[in-house]
Amino acid sequence: MKDEQQPTTILVTGANGQLGQTISELYAKNNLGLEFTFVSKEKFDITNEDAILTYFRNNKFDYCINCAAYTNVEQAEKIPKIAFKVNAEGVKWLAKACKQTNTILIHISTDYVFDGEKKEPYTPSDVPNPINEYGKSKLLGEQYIQEIMDNYFIVRTSWLYSKKYGKNFYRTILEKAKKEDELFVTDEQLGCPTDTVNLSKYILGLIKEKKTNFGIYHFSDEKVMTWYDFAEQILLENHLKNMTKLVKGNNYSTFAKRPKSSVLKTHN
Ligand SMILES: NC(=O)c1ccc[n+]([C@@H]2O[C@H](COP(=O)([O-])OP(=O)(O)OC[C@H]3O[C@@H](n4cnc5c(N)ncnc54)[C@H](OP(=O)(O)O)[C@@H]3O)[C@@H](O)[C@H]2O)c1
Repeated sequence: MKDEQQPTTILVTGANGQLGQTISELYAKNNLGLEFTFVSKEKFDITNEDAILTYFRNNKFDYCINCAAYTNVEQAEKIPKIAFKVNAEGVKWLAKACKQTNTILIHISTDYVFDGEKKEPYTPSDVPNPINEYGKSKLLGEQYIQEIMDNYFIVRTSWLYSKKYGKNFYRTILEKAKKEDELFVTDEQLGCPTDTVNLSKYILGLIKEKKTNFGIYHFSDEKVMTWYDFAEQILLENHLKNMTKLVKGNNYSTFAKRPKSSVLKTHN
């Protein structure tokens, strides 16, 4: 049994991604009795089965938050095997190592496991039906976890962005607004943009509250909108509305299909 005085130990994989960096900024130095270890792809490649198992055996963790993923949806469509290697096989190795070392896995998944045809928000018990390779690879990762483990949280989120880190819609719009007179943004999909700060707080809550009702959860920020609406909100909140004109539409075609409506029903 773990001594109550001992810190709860948490491994964060994919630490250089936007979610990993947000968790690090918020909680690396904390007074909450939590001891974090952050590992990036260079030090901890989740596709390396043997290295992962050795690492988990040599370093005991209570939790692993898996922020590692192949997230380039367009590229995944062109070369699916890269996405499957990380999002499915890598997750399988992680799940096995967690299972063998009695580590609770908190794994982040996506609204893209759904086809987007449902008119209401998706619940965790709705049947997934991904329409692109990224979504298929993430779904297979979820399925491996469910087959291998009992003590896991799969947290599906949507339209994730960080105002500070990484390459995402929020930061791209800001950058483009400063350079371009006109911005074309699609209004053909509905979803809930989710700030990595809020997702990080949700994940921390699972740990702090020592939740044991394992399974699949949905977490997103609650405002439903289109990408066009989101772009408008970003310009407004950064006082850039007069710098550029927003136009509804696409001026580029995408390779991967996107779900039309991937609003997640969140119960917290
Ligand atoms: N972004 C979204 O809109 C969105 C929406 C819903 C759900 N999600 C999910 O949310 C989670 C966090 O996403 P994010 O936006 O923070 O992603 P991100 O910024 O792309 O970060 C993912 C990190 O994983 C790393 N990585 C890639 N392959 C790896 C490997 N083999 N081993 C270890 N690390 C590896 C990446 O490193 P490199 O960059 O060096 O490859 C990157 O640092 C992911 O599970 C994602 O599927 C994201």
